[in-house]
Amino acid sequence: MPPAPDALPTLVLIHGFPLDRDMWRPQVAALSGAARVVAVDLPGFGGSEPKPFTMDSAADHVAARLDAEGAPGRVVVGGLSMGGYVAMAFARRHPGRLAGLILADTRAAPDDDAGKKGRDEMIALARETGTAGVVEKMLPMLLAEATRAGRPEVVEEVRRIARRQPPEAVVAALEALRDRPDAAPGLGGVSVPTLVLVGEHDPLTPLTMAEAIGARVYGSEVVTIPGAGHLSNLENPDAFNAAVLAFLAEVKPGNTPAAGSGDRPA
Ligand code: MLT
Repeated sequence: MPPAPDALPTLVLIHGFPLDRDMWRPQVAALSGAARVVAVDLPGFGGSEPKPFTMDSAADHVAARLDAEGAPGRVVVGGLSMGGYVAMAFARRHPGRLAGLILADTRAAPDDDAGKKGRDEMIALARETGTAGVVEKMLPMLLAEATRAGRPEVVEEVRRIARRQPPEAVVAALEALRDRPDAAPGLGGVSVPTLVLVGEHDPLTPLTMAEAIGARVYGSEVVTIPGAGHLSNLENPDAFNAAVLAFLAEVKPGNTPAAGSGDRPA
């Protein structure tokens, strides 16, 4: 007999840039038997009102959304890339609400000077060409070469989701990305089970960055998603979902992390 919905953990999923909660469609479909899945839109995305935000204010927005959903207890928070930055902010700001953390294709380090300059150039591009220009520029970084060459339906799905986001939201997100803090110091305080996922061919946030997160979070596990680029959940949903399902089976409110790859910094 399937578990009663109340017995299931809540899994919050936070999207990457410049997408919205629709990017989690393969996860909502596959994981809903194992968790109550809540895919959220960050401010300005998915039809919400564009407004300036920071990773911290976005984390508070997610917490408020959980309250509104009637999910006041401890939850598993998962985010991909920008969503991962927000998930790390959630772990810093709402540690008592966290039962587990999933950080996919993301990094702890802030933008360096070259990265900040790149954000400013992307802001100018968004103002000039709209979101369509931004997504075309980003596609080679978002999807693995094999996905771009051989899976037009995935490429079109990414274009479809990105193009409907208003340029104002894209600009606000780029400012938040550019100005985000260093998340590394906060990771040492994470005391819930943590899964770090990374696409095998992710050029934006490669395995070294996933391992850097893993090394800071005590008991965390780093899993590579074969054949995928940056949008690993869309490019190889079967492997992504299998890793999340195995993780959810281990996460129970009150769990402490098992000894694993991450060393708690002194
Ligand atoms: C994302 O996928 O959310 C972005 O690539 C994040 C970033 O550019 O830092």
